[in-house]
Formats: sequence, C-alpha cells, structure tokens
Amino acid sequence: MRSTSIIPHSRPTLGTADRQAISAAIASGQLAQGPRVTAFEARVARLTGTAGGVAVSSGTAALHLALVALGVGPGDEVILPSYLCAGPLHAIQHAGATPRLVDCDPTTYNLDPSHVKRSLTRYTKALLVPHLFGLPADLSELMSLGVPVIEDCAQALGATYRDRPVGGFGELAICSFYATKVITTGEGGMLLARDVRLLRRAQDLREYDKRRTFRTRFNYKMTDFQAALGLSQLRQLPVFLAKRRALADRYNQELRGLPLAGPFVPADRDHIFYRYVVRVGRGLVPMLSRLERAGVSARRPVFRPLHRYLKLAGFPGTEEAWRTALSLPIYPTLKGDIERVIGAVRRLFLGQAGGLDKKIVRARG
Ligand SMILES: Cc1ncc(COP(=O)(O)O)c(C=O)c1O
Repeated sequence: MRSTSIIPHSRPTLGTADRQAISAAIASGQLAQGPRVTAFEARVARLTGTAGGVAVSSGTAALHLALVALGVGPGDEVILPSYLCAGPLHAIQHAGATPRLVDCDPTTYNLDPSHVKRSLTRYTKALLVPHLFGLPADLSELMSLGVPVIEDCAQALGATYRDRPVGGFGELAICSFYATKVITTGEGGMLLARDVRLLRRAQDLREYDKRRTFRTRFNYKMTDFQAALGLSQLRQLPVFLAKRRALADRYNQELRGLPLAGPFVPADRDHIFYRYVVRVGRGLVPMLSRLERAGVSARRPVFRPLHRYLKLAGFPGTEEAWRTALSLPIYPTLKGDIERVIGAVRRLFLGQAGGLDKKIVRARG
C-alpha cells in the first residue's frame, strides 16, 4: 500500500512527544498566550542569539509587526526579492509601504547584493533578506549597504552564516512555524530582535487590549497550546536538521552525473535543506507531471514570482529560477521513500538527457 502511495512534497514531523505536549497544555486550562509562549520566545531567541522574541500568529504577521516597529509606513520603500512567496508582500502592503522588488541570483536563489545596491533610494527604509530554501543569504554584503535588515528565517531556522546562527545579524528577524516549516506550531511566527527597544515596541503592538492609551495595535497572538508544540518541536530541531542533511547528502550522491544542477552552497554558510532544489533546464512543467505519475510530488519551490503578480518586467534571474528550479521531497519522515524519489528522477532524466540545457549543468557542476 505504502509503496504505491504518492510521496508528498512536504509534510510536518509530529510524534508522541508533540501530542503529549499539546495535551498537557490543553489540560492545564491555559489556552491563550501564557507561560509556554514566553518560554518558546526565550528558547528561539537563545537559538538565534537575539535579545528576545515576540511570538505571533504567522510569519506574515511577524513581518508586519517588524515593519511597524521600525516605523516603516506610507511613503517608505521596502526592498525584497521577487523570487519569494506572497506573505511578505502582504505584510509590506499592510504597513502601507511600497514594495520594491529586486532580482535574485539564480545560482543561490537568494538576493543579489548588486541588484539591491542599484535599487536603493532615499525612500528605502528596510531590506527584507530571506534565507531561501534554508541557505543563508550573502549577509555581509547586504548588511554593508547601510539599510536596516530584516532577516526572513521562515525557511532557515538553525542555519548558520560564518558559524553564527541566522536571525541574529539583522536589526530584526522573522520566523514562520507554518505546518510544513522546519519546526511547526500549525500556523505561527515570531519576530526576533537584537535591540531591546525594538523588541519592546513589537511586544507593545501585540498587547492590544486593556491598555491605558489607545493606538492601532494588532491581535496577532499565539496560543499556549501552539507554543507547547513549538517547544516540543524545538527540542527535536537538531535531529530534524541532521535528518535533512543526511537526505540532502543522499540526493547529492545519487543524482550526481544526471544532467541537472544540484544545490550550490558557498563555503561560508551552512544549508539546512528546508528544500532540496535542483535546476533542470527547460520542460519543468512536463517533468513535474511525469514525477507525479511516478508517485512523487515535486513542485516549483516558489509558486509564482512576485513581479508576475504585480505585472512588472525585467527580472531575468528570477525568471530563470522560476523556469528551471524543481523542488524534490525532503523532510525528516521521508526515510526510505527517498529511494523511490531517486529512482523516479533517474528514470526521468536518463530518458531525455539530450533535450536538457547543458549550460546549466556546466555552470553549476
Ligand atoms: C520565506 C518566507 N517568508 C515568509 C513566509 C510567511 O510565513 P507565514 O506563512 O507563516 O505567514 C513564508 C511562508 O510561507 C516564507 O516561506
């Protein structure tokens, strides 16, 4: 039965400890934000080397709070890559700021600092730096541009840049704990800050009721039973990351020699393989269908680049990534099913190697 079922593209990793943690939180009668949320914030802050965290209902909510805490509003511009999911674009629009999209580097899929530099204006108030697919962005270059950096660690909790965990470099950072993220609380997110004043400002924005004064604040709270799951997941993070790396090593070994380009990891950073993304040349969509027919759910790792939503032209790196990047299943519970994925990918390529774009293979090795 299992061998003929479809292998999902992503999947949460949940076990007995997680179920017990949620049950204990519910049995305690403390359902809304409480001590487990506080403990979860402290643990994520310690992991990332920040002064503290503000747990919220999603990564998008965390980014919205981050922008408001930084004082970003109408008339201000926020730079972000076009090769990204829609959540950050919503957050920027909610803050009333103007999104300024820039192109990505199609070899790492992360922001290209030279494009960012060219997009800076006197209205630029923040730079959103995602560590896409689990690979840290070029932080030293991006941070040297003199604009407040918000690290987007939604896909990279536990990754390191020059041996320090991501999340602790920018003025602020955000995480997502959506169901299939590295660790999950179902839905959820967190803002992290190095500066205690920014942290207090974000906390203030979340505590919307029973205040002496009124200003627009946000009920973005996380529940205590979500935080109980978050704490339990966080304890398992080292195991989750080790499993992801082992699976990525296996893909690296077994897909070597095929006409595709595996993930590129610069020497000064550590990839946690939230996604295992290969570049396959032209014909991505038929390949996705053929893999699905072979029982493997593969995906475009970014559903639709943001410049396409906004009907903007001129993002060649992003277009290239969108046209050629294919994401294979990778998550701690994949286990032996990886052999089926490898088999399906090998059959796919060995049948049609002649039609692939050899330039990509040469460029990425
Ligand atoms: C890179 C990135 N940033 C931000 C978000 C937004 O997080 P959420 O879905 O929790 O709002 C996501 C999640 O989809 C993401 O992958």
